[in-house]
Amino acid sequence: MKRVGLLTSGGDAPGMNAAIRAVTRAAIYNGLEVIGFRRGYEGLLDGDVIPLSISSVGGIILRGGTMLRTARSDRFKKPEGIREGLRRLKEFDIDALVVIGGDGSFHGAYELHKLGFPVVGIPGTIDNDMAGTDCTIGFDTACNTALDCIEKLRDTASSHERLFIVEVMGRNAGFLALEAAVAAGAEFVLVPEIPFEMDTLCQKLHYAHERGKTHSLIIIAEGVMPAADLQSKLKDTGGYDARIIVLGHIQRGGNPSSFDAVLASRLGGGAIDALIRGDYGTMVGRISGKIVASPIQVAWEQKKDLDEDMLRLVDILGI
Ligand code: F6P
Repeated sequence: MKRVGLLTSGGDAPGMNAAIRAVTRAAIYNGLEVIGFRRGYEGLLDGDVIPLSISSVGGIILRGGTMLRTARSDRFKKPEGIREGLRRLKEFDIDALVVIGGDGSFHGAYELHKLGFPVVGIPGTIDNDMAGTDCTIGFDTACNTALDCIEKLRDTASSHERLFIVEVMGRNAGFLALEAAVAAGAEFVLVPEIPFEMDTLCQKLHYAHERGKTHSLIIIAEGVMPAADLQSKLKDTGGYDARIIVLGHIQRGGNPSSFDAVLASRLGGGAIDALIRGDYGTMVGRISGKIVASPIQVAWEQKKDLDEDMLRLVDILGI
């Protein structure tokens, strides 16, 4: 193995740049060359390459976004796209590919692996919805960003004695919502994994009010329903006049937290270690503090469970 390809794919996540730096420098340290593909699999298909050097990845460790840029590629989901990708990898003399992204991006890498091409995945998504790692790159920073916004809302909520609904990202998972809810001391959290009844929510809001609570925060994961829908349901069912805020893409931006910068650095180094060991078709993750390589399909074949104790804690602490 002489030359490693590297790309970031899917939604950007804070810490991706730190992972790019770590992959590049760990590879060079081990005598390998690194070629970056811009705009994920789109750049691979278009042959949009950029050689990466020790200095070209300097100064990016704490920068948000991804210097390689990213995309969601429909072309790469088709068999002819995968074949074309393989052809491009050969054209650029790439011996192995490191993919930084979410499980959608790993599906593409898995297809290359099935065709015999060496790949390793690094989990990068704010959603934290991938098994094979306790935490994905970007999740911690996104939680902190959400927390920052929720803190500010709390000031207005308490001053005006209002009910606020905060919609956070997470696609079909509630990890971001739950973490933010516990950290912000929110009174209620709604996640896609656990169904809820409008009547029960209204009852809880009613009891909270009777106990003297003058304001409340409901954190809702985007996978449950849009905040605006919950707002009108609360109006119809309980007569509540809630304000809403959708945090949206702001959660993907910003400099990585120290946790994410360290995680990304360790996973980047771990990906090169996995390639050198010949652990192809794997993803590297951090499990109980250790960097571990698992089969890449673990990311979507195994389900990562939401911690139900944390859910109960929101109820207990939000009294
Ligand atoms: O997967 C990351 C994520 O930010 C999800 O939380 C969200 O549902 C989705 O990407 C939004 O994607 P896009 O930026 O393509 O609208």
